[in-house]
Amino acid sequence: MRIVKQLAFYGGKKVVTIKAPHFIWPPKSSIQERKDLAAQRDRDISIKGRSGPIKRLEEDFLKFLGKRKYAISFNSGTAALFAAYFAIGIEDKDEVIAPALTFHAAISPVYLLKGNPVLVDVDPKTYCIDPKKIEKAITKKTKAICVVHQWGHPADMDLIMKIARKYKIKVIEDCSHAHGSKYKGRYVGLFGDIAVFSLQANKIAFAGEGGILVTNSIKYHDRVTLLGHYRDRAKEEIKDAFLQQFWQSGYGLKLRMSPYNAITAVHSLRQLKKNITGRRRCLEYLSKKLSKFPALTVPYVAPYANMGGWYGYKVLYNPEKFYNIPINLYVSALAAEGVDVKLSDTPSFTSLPLFTVKEDKMFTNRKHKKIYKYGQFPIAEYIGSNAFKFPTFTDWSKSKKIIDQYHKAFIKIHKFYKELL
Ligand SMILES: Cc1ncc(COP(=O)(O)O)c(C=O)c1O
Repeated sequence: MRIVKQLAFYGGKKVVTIKAPHFIWPPKSSIQERKDLAAQRDRDISIKGRSGPIKRLEEDFLKFLGKRKYAISFNSGTAALFAAYFAIGIEDKDEVIAPALTFHAAISPVYLLKGNPVLVDVDPKTYCIDPKKIEKAITKKTKAICVVHQWGHPADMDLIMKIARKYKIKVIEDCSHAHGSKYKGRYVGLFGDIAVFSLQANKIAFAGEGGILVTNSIKYHDRVTLLGHYRDRAKEEIKDAFLQQFWQSGYGLKLRMSPYNAITAVHSLRQLKKNITGRRRCLEYLSKKLSKFPALTVPYVAPYANMGGWYGYKVLYNPEKFYNIPINLYVSALAAEGVDVKLSDTPSFTSLPLFTVKEDKMFTNRKHKKIYKYGQFPIAEYIGSNAFKFPTFTDWSKSKKIIDQYHKAFIKIHKFYKELL
């Protein structure tokens, strides 16, 4: 006799009937954005100074954050992070403490400057760097701590800033997942010596490709300007007379943003508060539904935190609480039901060759490169291999029904789990 299986993975009927795609990001452009892009095409498609949409974006960004003196745009978050480490003077053998799980660009530029990332495990609840483990990692060579507000959740900034002050080291905040997130009522990006926000297309505030760096320090402002913005902008904006003499050439790099990207970013920034409100409503609803399943850990929100951006919506799957069914199978079964779900693409750094291979051949004579082995950061590694992600639903009117159907798909998988054994 043929046994009829229920799960769509084995030919059963799908639970999710709403047609894909269930989520489109970035959202469609407005008529005004398209008009502005077209007008810029005929006005100036390469802005060399701090003017036009570049200036608009930087001013709007400062207005949104409130209390920062300088905002400097870049052609990516990665470029802005490189500039941040350059600004604070990371050089040969300098160390920067960083979380062992996040997007590599938060810290990989330190290798390029011939410094060393010193990795620290992450907090099991917030997934941000664990402040309790930072002090142990500090040495005479430590110049800075890199803080990432991971997946939109603010790191514990009071503790981190206290340690930084005690050891007189700098703090670079990477807010690429957390536009509009708040720590104790204050926006992330207002704590460190420098903060960087990626504006890449998947972010809640987006340029397409782009990044923005903010700081209160004129010294850092001048250094990042000279690094990435030679000619007009360097000439007009750099205050330090010694640095200013290099305005024509800078230091050999051009990292500025295109005006098109700046226009798109200006428009997306205008929608930021609305999108945060929508995203929070959808994702809190999703969390409420999924928190009923003991095998799942939904994103934690600390009492001190207000979520802004989120970034992906990551759920931790604990196979030991679900008959040891492997995550690949669990996620495939959900996907077969029509759920837009994927394995997380954020591995711990101990899975990335940049952090594990001594001979990277990038530099001919770099014997001091610090490398890591899988097994050193159990929490980061667990999260890196046990998280899966959903769309970061933002439009409640369209998403509620989809979330309800997703919920039913989870109920079904859990009811018919035996088919997966
Ligand atoms: C935490 C973090 N930092 C930096 C970056 C790099 O930003 P970009 O892609 O704009 O270069 C990203 C990109 O996703 C990121 O997630």
